[in-house]
Amino acid sequence: AEALKVAIAGLGTVGAGLVRLLQAQHDVIAARSGRSIEITAVAARDKTKDRGCDLGGYAWYEDAAEMARDADADVIVELIGGSEGIAKETCEAAFAAGRHVVTANKALIAHHGLQLAGAAEQAGVTLAYEAAVAGGIPVIKSIREGLAGNRITSLHGILNGTCNYILTAMRETGRDFDDVLSEAQELGYAEADPSFDVDGVDAAHKLAILTSLAFGVEIDFKSVSVEGIRHITPDDLQYAREIGYKIKLLGIAEQGEQGVFQRVHPVMVPMSAPIASVEGVFNAVVTKGDFVDTTVMEGRGAGDGPTASAVAADIIDIAAGRGGPAFGVPVSALRKMPTLPLDSH
Ligand code: NDP
Ligand code: HSE
Repeated sequence: AEALKVAIAGLGTVGAGLVRLLQAQHDVIAARSGRSIEITAVAARDKTKDRGCDLGGYAWYEDAAEMARDADADVIVELIGGSEGIAKETCEAAFAAGRHVVTANKALIAHHGLQLAGAAEQAGVTLAYEAAVAGGIPVIKSIREGLAGNRITSLHGILNGTCNYILTAMRETGRDFDDVLSEAQELGYAEADPSFDVDGVDAAHKLAILTSLAFGVEIDFKSVSVEGIRHITPDDLQYAREIGYKIKLLGIAEQGEQGVFQRVHPVMVPMSAPIASVEGVFNAVVTKGDFVDTTVMEGRGAGDGPTASAVAADIIDIAAGRGGPAFGVPVSALRKMPTLPLDSH
């Protein structure tokens, strides 16, 4: 079969990680998808930057939306970030040109996922976003496909690697919040604006996406109640430890009588809970379904390799002809059941 041609917009932590993965795993991926996957074009701002990978054979664009329109590509991979501006324009340009889109951008999906999924449907192409939630854990496919025979009654999880890294390091070493945050930034875990991480907004983006998939409702990011971890001190973490608890930033979605309640906030988790042992950059997602009962998924929630792994899985699906509706059903079939903030509980 003909090679699937891929153009990558954004060559930072995730984009450069994806280039490395696609180059290193070329044979494995070709065997699994029945065709090879070839990078044809890349886009970023600074052409002179060393990104730790060979970009020699690829067309270079400074304007990602122009690449999405003009490059010789079947798939545009959006790894720039941000819910507005160039990331959104790039995806829209790709759909207008009849190309598939793969993205890791949870802010974009949380704010505009329905609109973009609608545009993909109209164009007869795929919108895929496995990497947008919980980094390397294949949680989108697991909920959308693997648990499709269940009514999900609740889900909760550690959805931000940066916050879990900070809380773990502060508890274990007593180190200062800002110091550990800088380390998470150096490791490529944090968002371009790290207040999205530490104020709980990134976890809320991810929770809104999972809620939509798990409960079959339209994404409703604005109804997530959000509290972050800025006010947590090393002393808080020590006191919690003394009485048998760990403090974790959790995203929680529960089916209530009036709708789905979505919230993100720090939680005292008993040491005996499986989620208490999820440390550092690791994430975990726990779901409850009526037939399957409890499932727990754990893995690295951020970083170049794990995130590139999730992006690659989406590209391989497209290569193998496994693209389907972004939210499991056509956008028009998603329920408009109200999703409610915690304070209306
Ligand atoms: P980075 O900040 O490391 O990289 C962003 C890339 O986008 C850079 O290569 C930058 O170019 C490029 N870029 C920025 N603005 C433009 C523009 N106007 N035109 C063209 N290129 C542009 O981000 P990450 O790789 O960390 O994140 C990318 C996406 O993946 C985000 O949506 C993020 O939320 C998501 N994500 C990140 C994870 C992580 O662990 N880092 C995990 C899961 C999802 P240049 O390099 O030249 O400055
Ligand atoms: N900044 C995010 C995190 C990246 O720390 O979890 C992964 O989505």
